[in-house]
Amino acid sequence: MRQETNCVLRKSGRAMQEHTDGTAVPVAHEAELPQPGSFVTVDVAGAPLLVVRQDDGSIAVLSNVCRHRGARVELQPSGRRKMFSCPYHRWCYGRDGGIRSMPFDDGFIGVDRVDRSLLHRASTVRHGIVWTTTEPGTELDLDTDALAALDSTTLLHTSRTQLDHTLDDARATLPDGTSVNGLHITDSGSHLEVRTLWASGLRGETSELALWILVPAGAPATDHDAAEARWRSLTA
Ligand code: FES
Repeated sequence: MRQETNCVLRKSGRAMQEHTDGTAVPVAHEAELPQPGSFVTVDVAGAPLLVVRQDDGSIAVLSNVCRHRGARVELQPSGRRKMFSCPYHRWCYGRDGGIRSMPFDDGFIGVDRVDRSLLHRASTVRHGIVWTTTEPGTELDLDTDALAALDSTTLLHTSRTQLDHTLDDARATLPDGTSVNGLHITDSGSHLEVRTLWASGLRGETSELALWILVPAGAPATDHDAAEARWRSLTA
């Protein structure tokens, strides 16, 4: 029997507010970042972000905005890199966001390289989900107990869909109760479908929907088959 759970997380004991006022947003599943240098790019509330697995195994959320003249540094939606090279003038950043090279750096004598690192956003991983904030400088303090259902699951598939609608319009196309910046979990019996929706575009004129299909550890082959069949039906 299908069960629906709508998890609007609470931050410091208060109900999280919607939209773009400094709330937490789930931006990736950690299994999307299997190796050091694995990354995904997302736009959250007008901010291009780069979610990167670090060499020590942790995950960082960086601003995907070059510190030279503000170009978008990484253009691919996902992949793996040793360094991130801005396509405009080839400033290179490490996986931790630090400057590695500035071509023609004679012109940048005296520039403090530490000051030109990609900016870090607060982030945390809870129950396999990577969270960050919609506002730079905001701390994350989340009560995520409601997400325990995600423990001991394996990520089977991921999809990210750009929607040409505002959040309010996009929500009308989603299952009842899908929360903005929260997680909507559907337990089908054989697998979990986890959806989240956040504002994108410079002024929130578009939105992005992420879907993760998860299978419980040790699930029988029939459950995997059911999850695969569901995935095919969702992506047909
Ligand atoms: S804008 Fe990135 S190197 Fe110039």
